[in-house]
Amino acid sequence: MALKTVPTTAFPDQKPGTSGLRKKVPVFRQPNYVENFVQATFDTLPDRAGQTLVIGGDGRFLNREVVQVAIKIAAANGFGRLLVGRGGLLSTPAASCVIRKYGAIGGIVLSASHNPGGPDGDFGIKFNAKNGGPAPESVTAAIFERAKGITQYRILDVPDLDLDRIGETTLGDTVVAVIDPVADYAALMAELIDFDAIRRLFAGGFRMRFDAMSAVTGPYAKAILEGELGAAPGTVVNAEPKEDFGGHHPDPNPVHAKELFDLLHGPDAPDFGAASDGDGDRNMIVAPHLFVTPSDSLAILAAHAQRAPGYAAGLAGLARSMPTSRAADRVAKKLGIQAYETPTGWKFFGNLLDAGLITLCGEESAGTGSNHVREKDGLWAVLLWLNILAATGERADALVRAHWAEFGRDYYTRHDYEEVESAATEALMQSLRDRLADLPGQAFAGLTVASADDFRYVDPVDGSVTERQGIRIAFAEDARVVYRLSGTGTQGATLRVYLERYDRDRHDRDPAEVLSPVVAAARAIADIAGHTGRAEPSVVT
Ligand code: G6P
Ligand code: ZN
Repeated sequence: MALKTVPTTAFPDQKPGTSGLRKKVPVFRQPNYVENFVQATFDTLPDRAGQTLVIGGDGRFLNREVVQVAIKIAAANGFGRLLVGRGGLLSTPAASCVIRKYGAIGGIVLSASHNPGGPDGDFGIKFNAKNGGPAPESVTAAIFERAKGITQYRILDVPDLDLDRIGETTLGDTVVAVIDPVADYAALMAELIDFDAIRRLFAGGFRMRFDAMSAVTGPYAKAILEGELGAAPGTVVNAEPKEDFGGHHPDPNPVHAKELFDLLHGPDAPDFGAASDGDGDRNMIVAPHLFVTPSDSLAILAAHAQRAPGYAAGLAGLARSMPTSRAADRVAKKLGIQAYETPTGWKFFGNLLDAGLITLCGEESAGTGSNHVREKDGLWAVLLWLNILAATGERADALVRAHWAEFGRDYYTRHDYEEVESAATEALMQSLRDRLADLPGQAFAGLTVASADDFRYVDPVDGSVTERQGIRIAFAEDARVVYRLSGTGTQGATLRVYLERYDRDRHDRDPAEVLSPVVAAARAIADIAGHTGRAEPSVVT
């Protein structure tokens, strides 16, 4: 076997962000860029000899090439067994499932999530640890340090493997197993969710549409919804994963999944609509004539999870990221369980899940998940919704309204100011920080600031502290604004402004109207236009 040691020059910019190393495709196409990062990642695993490693991605442009490179470098670095999804595919939650099920030391997951793909789009390489979750900061920092000092990588000089045929090949001391990317995941879903109840639902004429957005969940949704559960053929649309996602932005929200959104708001609305993102970890839920915000979805799933076999014993606790609305907290209170508030980023749920402190968690950014894997899981959320609809016999919109009737409604919206100069957004945040102590008591657009702080998280499991995670402003009128800078963009800076207002009694108002004073207050407090030169956000969801 031709083991080669190749001299290389370090790249200074291989610093993983919120979800791994994410850059434009041309950056990854520089000679040795991928090789360096993969070798640096393996160098941080001193006990890798003989271990199992999982490799797969969301099928975007470069996916196949990078899978081949990762296989050859892994085989030259002493791994015993590589589990590679057929076609180089593995959704992010499926990768997490496979890592856990087979006791792998971790996995290389190739994705830039919901960012566009193609030759000018985005690409990403993420390392997941043996619990199946995104590597913690200590590990990503070590990878970055190593990448800055790398001088050589090891690789097997062998022809490309056939990724499309299930089976095993031996490369030196390493066995490479090409596996069905769906089977293990589907088996896990069948344990957690009452498939029989959903089969009866579909057999009774229930109609849904699942939009896979030409991304990785297509094969999963087809196999499970249409194959196992008997949904009508054609239920899953855009089911073929494409390297450029058909030119679309595979982000399941009312803007990018507009067709689905419009269908559910039109005269021939099916009973339920759902979509998932590029790598299958995000989800969007649409009831007939009613969009369900991710924050509400988490709360509703938590309130009814016990109806699914995997959660019949009840929930240990619940967690949401700080900018996610407080709807889940109200459910936790009723259930008598602890509610945790974490910084944005799925990795912060990892410790709580591993320690058994929580069972369900979610984020406003369309992520919902549970202790079954260590990633958010789009299709799982859809299946849990279907399980609940089947068990309650309720229409999805009626279920949402019943939830509001019981708990009140947290009206919610997010305004994104994209591709702003970094210096401008930094100045805006700094100016807010400087004024935190002065804000309480001041009134803006008829709302009075009750408290203002910069979110600081103390992990209840290991005591680690994460500072400066977003400015929170609470108003006396039961409203809240959060300002934070995105950690996932690849161009300029994105300011996110999260807006919410609670109403105990009135649930059918227009969210834009309810939130308009909160929007006005948010703009005034931070002088968004003054700092960014933007009078309006680029995206409202
Ligand atoms: C990724 C992470 C999520 C996180 C999101 C935040 O999708 O997996 O856990 O919520 O990034 O993105 P942002 O752009 O707001 O930093
Ligand atoms: Zn994603």
